[in-house]
Amino acid sequence: MLILGIESSCDETGVALVQADMPGATLSAPLAAPRLLAHALHSQVQMHEAFGGVVPELASRDHIRRVLPLTRQVLQQANQPLDAVDLVAFTQGPGLAGALLVGAGVSVALGASLGVPVLGVHHLEGHLLSPFLGANPPMFPFVALLVSGGHTQLMRVDAVGRYALLGETVDDAAGEAFDKSAKLLGLGYPGGPALARLAERGNPQAFKLPRPLLHSGDLDFSFAGLKTAVLTQVHRAGPDITDAVRADLAASTQAAIVDVLSRKALAALAQTGLRRLVVSGGVGANRQLRSALDAAAHKVGCEVYYPELALCTDNGAMIALAAAMRLQAGVQAPIHPSDFSVRPRWPLEAIAVDSTAAAPRLGAPPY
Ligand code: KG4
Ligand code: ZN
Repeated sequence: MLILGIESSCDETGVALVQADMPGATLSAPLAAPRLLAHALHSQVQMHEAFGGVVPELASRDHIRRVLPLTRQVLQQANQPLDAVDLVAFTQGPGLAGALLVGAGVSVALGASLGVPVLGVHHLEGHLLSPFLGANPPMFPFVALLVSGGHTQLMRVDAVGRYALLGETVDDAAGEAFDKSAKLLGLGYPGGPALARLAERGNPQAFKLPRPLLHSGDLDFSFAGLKTAVLTQVHRAGPDITDAVRADLAASTQAAIVDVLSRKALAALAQTGLRRLVVSGGVGANRQLRSALDAAAHKVGCEVYYPELALCTDNGAMIALAAAMRLQAGVQAPIHPSDFSVRPRWPLEAIAVDSTAAAPRLGAPPY
């Protein structure tokens, strides 16, 4: 089955084509893992840069401009005609309402004109499953640390569709902490990669910044206080803040975020008794976070899995993949052909199948 995936939840238009086997009448034959045939991305970062953040109206308009040319590009790369597509998957939420509607509208229209089903995908499920497109995919069950611009969550993942929330941020997401601190340090948008680059020249111990909820005994996070502490230090340094101080502050901020994320992720592994950790979402691209997690997990005999770097941030491949894995696991039927409703606010737990109910047909794809 050829699945076209369309992502348009925020400031990146992503389109991809994934090939996936579907279980036949005999369920015993092992399925091959879904294969990414082609993907293309247009980032709106330059367009939003001048405003210091995403302007929703501009985002929607740009998605409209990009989505069909990117679709053509992906089909061409994969050497496939449009009518070879068997299913269109799109990000149904969460995200910016107008931006989501572009992907939803185009997908439903493509589905109707091709006479193929359409499937709405949860953006975070896409992130969560994205390591399955890599060379070394994890096995179920695992703990997932989802760290994006809008979400910071620890989930227990037993199979496709079987998700239990272990903890989450009570205020800002980790990505927001990166972005807001970067802004205070005079760095551009998006702040995460810029702050990480500046931090390379700084001393992570130069400033003692708070690690909120580190000892709370639960698996929740809080990052709003960190941003306030960074603001206080920026004010203290005054308008003549030197590059060296900015670099030290960036390194200390990154160290605080990485410290909290890695210690809570390790606590989640200990609490659940699971030995595999999957890290996904944009902040998962952070090198310091990766090395801290690798080192900490290695010490306790656990393994950490990441999506390929190019698939860490938003992309269409993870949307096509999530659709493929849900269908393979038998946990989702395509949506009605005229339904292009979107869900700007949509908790991931809302799509979890009841873990006490009978197992879905396959539970987890057998590869
Ligand atoms: O998953 P994502 O691409 O979009 C959302 O679903 O939100 O995540 C974007 C977030 C932004 O906050 C961005 O600053 C952050 O991921 N980010 C990083 C890095 N790359 C992206 N944060 C820290 N270090 C990075 N290398
Ligand atoms: Zn995302």
